Amino acid sequence: MLWIALIIGILVTALLLYYLLVVTEGVFLGRRLVVWLYDQVAATYDARKAVDPDFEAFFLARPLQHHLKHLPNPLILDVASGTGRLPIALLEEPLFHGRVIGLDASAKMLAVAAEKLRPYRFRAALVQQTADHLPFPPNCFDAVTCLEALEFFPNDETAVREMVRVLKPGGVLLVTRRKGIWGKAFLSRYRSVNQFANFLTTAEMEAVYTVPWQQEYDQVYGRKRRPA
Ligand SMILES: C[S@@+](CC[C@H](N)C(=O)[O-])C[C@H]1O[C@@H](n2cnc3c(N)ncnc32)[C@H](O)[C@@H]1O
Repeated sequence: MLWIALIIGILVTALLLYYLLVVTEGVFLGRRLVVWLYDQVAATYDARKAVDPDFEAFFLARPLQHHLKHLPNPLILDVASGTGRLPIALLEEPLFHGRVIGLDASAKMLAVAAEKLRPYRFRAALVQQTADHLPFPPNCFDAVTCLEALEFFPNDETAVREMVRVLKPGGVLLVTRRKGIWGKAFLSRYRSVNQFANFLTTAEMEAVYTVPWQQEYDQVYGRKRRPA
């Protein structure tokens, strides 16, 4: 009887740890743990992710570029940039002539990004900072992006408010919505398509729309309202 209780106890603990550390990547245990976990996986992140450059160009860089086509040299902020996925995808586009700042809290993810972005020199810059306090003045970016990260922030509302603050009126916001069963594992942090659109609309955004993207994420676009 004691053995059975012990085995059940070990199984429950293992499942709980799996949920807290793997499925939800430490978000319910605090920001420091989330960032520490990303520091640990930084060196192998790209290999595990194995993004296809053509997929990135077609479904990420070009649609975003289309929103910015009226601007000769747009300035973009990529929040939670990780190993530089979005900056690389944009800077590899021959018709993109802008600059990208990547911001992330993990020094080791940024170190990988820095190595990959070296050829782009002054067109890319990296900043180590958390998403709840963006070190930029209001209304300075033509676009702000945040891919596969909102669900890991201590407070996604604070982060989105900051992204909108630094976005120029009329500027483009591109964020991702975690979906499916793994999205629902984030409990009250999960938002349906409509809830997510309302969330952005109440944060000064308009023309919000959702595009299915990957198995676990939708892309959600919006524009910052111009003052009336
Ligand atoms: C799943 S990765 C996404 C990286 C990149 N956007 C991509 O699509 O490959 C999540 C990133 O969020 C960063 N992150 C987590 N919490 C953060 C926070 N509070 N502030 C800034 N970055 C954070 C992690 O360091 C990690 O690089």
